Amino acid sequence: MRLVVTGAAGFIGTNFVRHALARSADAVSRLVAVDLLTYAGNYANLADLEADPRFRFVRADIADRDAMATLVDEEAVDTLVNCAAETHVDRSIADHSPFVTTNVEGTLVLLEAARQRTGFRRFLQVSTDEVYGSISAGRATEDWPTRPSSPYAASKAAADAFVQAYATTYGLPAIITRCSNNYGPYQFPEKLIPLFVTNGLDGEALPLYGDGLNVRDWIHVEDHCAALWHVLGLPAAGGEVFNVSAEHEVPNRDVTDVILRLLDRPASLVRYVDDRPGHDRRYALDATRLRRLGWAPRRRFEEGLADTVAWYREQRAWWEAIKSGAYRDYYERMYGGRLRDSSAAPRS
Ligand code: NAD
Ligand code: TYD
Repeated sequence: MRLVVTGAAGFIGTNFVRHALARSADAVSRLVAVDLLTYAGNYANLADLEADPRFRFVRADIADRDAMATLVDEEAVDTLVNCAAETHVDRSIADHSPFVTTNVEGTLVLLEAARQRTGFRRFLQVSTDEVYGSISAGRATEDWPTRPSSPYAASKAAADAFVQAYATTYGLPAIITRCSNNYGPYQFPEKLIPLFVTNGLDGEALPLYGDGLNVRDWIHVEDHCAALWHVLGLPAAGGEVFNVSAEHEVPNRDVTDVILRLLDRPASLVRYVDDRPGHDRRYALDATRLRRLGWAPRRRFEEGLADTVAWYREQRAWWEAIKSGAYRDYYERMYGGRLRDSSAAPRS
């Protein structure tokens, strides 16, 4: 496999690149890691991999048509895993424009680069359960309609639609995975778990949205990466969707309680703040299709979360560097007013 992984310096990209390079040189002969290094990308996550002769890092924008076409051609790429995206729902509510440029236009640029390359074998679009919207009952299967709620989810659903259009119109062997909420090492501390773990480590407030009873379906990032690797080996003509989930639902309040217990911090750190607009109540995926095709998650939530908390405890220098500078402005903008107006008990 001559593989490009985009968004390689982000959370899932970093974990997936490490997973792929742990395979033999027969399986992966070349891995080109592409990342624009936005606020969410961190080259330090990958620096030690430069010692592997199969590895190359390229700083580039997936929406840059010439750069992507040249790269795919020069490196004789046959497989592309697209992890590059703007990924935070709250940021998409504040400003949708980078979500359209990267998630929609960037995906189209990559699809076009893959289509122009002869011998291209597999395009894997890493998507999300958020495209199905809030699930009031049951679990979403792959043939559920997409009903995105946030600008982030809308941009991911649009990208998925283009991937399917390229498979149908041009016969591109492009497939989609839709995964539930991930946790694990290298996650940017704007998402619930790393934000609450790092705030908790510093004895700072944990801002819980609304009544804290929104439900997310959690999976360890290693299980997600194993699923991505597994689908790359499946026979698929193009256009197929595979849900990825450990089918483990937890309300945000319970996630928070476990984090506090693991950190040995008091419940008084929890602050209930104004809810996110359009906040999806519940995500729940049915992953039967992929399980029948031989993949299964391995990590149990409580044990995986304990390992994750231990990782952030040990990697203080990694997240302290992130949480200085521009992050502080972001945090004040996103949470300053809400925390000043917060309460110790749920509002509704
Ligand atoms: P992340 O925000 O941690 O990383 C995204 C990476 O993409 C960053 O390194 C960033 O620098 C890079 N990037 C952004 N714009 C770029 C551009 N224009 N060109 C090149 N690189 C660019 O996100 P993540 O959590 O690793 O998510 C990766 C993918 O997985 C996304 O498509 C996301 O929708 C999907 N996903 C994430 C989760 C989750 O829980 N984190 C769950 C399901 C699906
Ligand atoms: P998040 O990690 O942003 O993932 P997503 O919204 O993409 O599922 O949020 C996970 C859940 O945690 C979601 O229900 C929103 C909630 N949340 C809070 O209560 N407080 C916070 O500060 C954040 C970032 C999220």
